[in-house]
Amino acid sequence: MLVARSADRLQRLAGELAELGAGAEVLVADLQSDQGMASVAERLQADRPRPVDVLVNNAGFGSIGSFSELPVEGAVAEITVNVVAVVRLCRSALPGMLHRRHGGILNVASLAAFVPGAGMANYSATKAFVLSLTEALREETAGRGVRITALCPGYTRTGFQQRAGVRAEGMPGFAWQDAAEVAAAGWAGFRQGTAVVVPGTLNKLSAAGVRFAPRPVVRKLAALSIRQLG
Ligand SMILES: NC(=O)c1ccc[n+]([C@@H]2O[C@H](COP(=O)([O-])OP(=O)(O)OC[C@H]3O[C@@H](n4cnc5c(N)ncnc54)[C@H](OP(=O)(O)O)[C@@H]3O)[C@@H](O)[C@H]2O)c1
Repeated sequence: MLVARSADRLQRLAGELAELGAGAEVLVADLQSDQGMASVAERLQADRPRPVDVLVNNAGFGSIGSFSELPVEGAVAEITVNVVAVVRLCRSALPGMLHRRHGGILNVASLAAFVPGAGMANYSATKAFVLSLTEALREETAGRGVRITALCPGYTRTGFQQRAGVRAEGMPGFAWQDAAEVAAAGWAGFRQGTAVVVPGTLNKLSAAGVRFAPRPVVRKLAALSIRQLG
């Protein structure tokens, strides 16, 4: 089941998947709206045409800029898609998965989840929520037949940068990953039952560094890194 707002892109993707022998349902929904969230939640709770085995909460976006200057509507929309929709969809999918003792959830957080990101303050906070929620749900459901994983990508070339107003040239080429390698790492980690997947060596080093560096240093380095993108 493919969910997003752009019907044409979803139909194209469903066509590509059909050529590879994989059937796909298309569900056009805006996860910023109550109605959009409800339509996906309803499908997740339904057993027909067949239950959803794995929920991938990938939809999300961010904005770069000063918290006090960015429009508050944008910040609230980010929280709605990145946090509220994730909560509602996890809550809708999980009871059926636990009942069937089968399936799982792959939530896409971010490397930003590990750091308070001055310059993308609201976005980083939404991703910290996703990481915390995912790890807690994993613990709550341990031993009950479901897999729950958080994927924490670093800089990845996608449509994210344009929507966020990010200047991608601000980061050197070696810092970037392709979406396909990030998705493959996330899926492999999910299949292996990994709690938190950080794809890429540089990102793994950054995530480990954050654990050991003093918090004021972490705050400064995160702000410096985001400033390169503004
Ligand atoms: N790219 C990065 O550097 C990076 C790094 C770390 C984490 N992430 C995370 O990775 C995830 C995927 O982002 P991406 O990088 O692939 O960005 P993207 O290319 O902009 O893709 C975002 C996806 O989310 C969907 N989406 C956005 N708003 C939606 C809404 N209101 N309702 C339904 N679907 C919506 C979009 O489809 P429509 O526009 O058609 O709705 C699109 O399929 C996000 O959670 C992002 O925070 C990205």
